[in-house]
Amino acid sequence: MSTNIDRYNRKISYLRVSITDRCNLRCIYCTPSETFKLLRQFDILSYEEVIRVIEAAVTFGIKKIRLTGGEPLVRRNVIHLIRAISQRSGVEDFSITTNGVFLKPLAQAIFKAGVRRINVSLDTLNPLKYVKITRRNCFRKVWEGISLAERIGFRPIRLNVVVMRGLNDDEILQFADLSIRKPYQIRFIEYMPLGVDNNWTPQKYVSSDEIKSRLESMAPLYPVTPEKNDGPALRYRFASAKGEIGLIRPLSHHFCATCNRLRLTAEGKLRPCLFSDKEVDLKTPLRRGCSQQDLIDLFRKAIGLKPKKYDLKRFQVQESQLIMRRIGG
Ligand code: GTP
Ligand code: 5AD
Ligand code: SF4
Repeated sequence: MSTNIDRYNRKISYLRVSITDRCNLRCIYCTPSETFKLLRQFDILSYEEVIRVIEAAVTFGIKKIRLTGGEPLVRRNVIHLIRAISQRSGVEDFSITTNGVFLKPLAQAIFKAGVRRINVSLDTLNPLKYVKITRRNCFRKVWEGISLAERIGFRPIRLNVVVMRGLNDDEILQFADLSIRKPYQIRFIEYMPLGVDNNWTPQKYVSSDEIKSRLESMAPLYPVTPEKNDGPALRYRFASAKGEIGLIRPLSHHFCATCNRLRLTAEGKLRPCLFSDKEVDLKTPLRRGCSQQDLIDLFRKAIGLKPKKYDLKRFQVQESQLIMRRIGG
């Protein structure tokens, strides 16, 4: 039996790597508006350490890597890390989730370093509402960054939209129209009660079923056949659209039965599940000079801790569970 299969017979092949807890935005569903404690540079894995972990991950059976944060593009010399990961054999699918603020200056270098697809968080097409949601005035930068990424040739370009009733749910059809005009996959994400001061209330939550029926009021939606490295998004498209629609349904239809992922936090801990605060420390062994085999054994330990599923209704809110910037969304 392959070593990357957990006790519920799930093949763990996807590692989300958070490289910083810092971010240049302050999204209302993720971050408090006031100051909060950041990790010290020493607490965060160095690029050399991240590469060692990725090498062990690939030997263990990981084939898909995603850089996240915080905002991964704020970390200094991130292009070196991106290039190094792209060049590793065994990494079949490598991508980045970014808020897009630094995409314009970095898109060309990211593409040259070998990345071909990118996910950008964008919850509104209205610059004023963007300020309300992210507490920063960066809509233009992000929009120009996405347009540049499109011209450079990134495919697919996925736009992540967290849908919040009374805030941006009136833009569902505008986003849908964007998926017709542009080669973007617009991914509507159910708002989760995660993040420090996340402002979540049941009233603000919009289910994917409701999103889908609102989309269908515009025009018929056709399912898109899933591909090998697809994440949990259900894919659809409108007739003759350049892009697609994706629905990510963590609350209404949790995807635990097919979960294929582990997370590496910025401070070097393997986290078996977004909703559990169990973690396996890699940083201490790394800094004590452990071998690659030791790291592979720690990966095995981490998948042994993967729960069968989470129950958000019983989810106990704890500080350590809530720091999305460290965990990487
Ligand atoms: P693709 O490979 O492009 O499909 O990426 P992805 O969906 O794995 O990555 P992305 O960073 O774009 O994440 C999209 C959304 O899915 C995020 O907003 C997360 O909130 C949510 N998400 C990602 N991983 C998990 C998970 O393990 N559990 C739950 N419940 N939600 C997750
Ligand atoms: N609910 C849903 N999605 C969230 N993200 C961050 N916090 C939440 C939340 N509370 C999303 C971001 C980003 C991705 C990595 O995680 O929008 O696209
Ligand atoms: Fe930054 Fe992403 Fe959190 Fe927004 S959701 S504050 S972009 S880490």
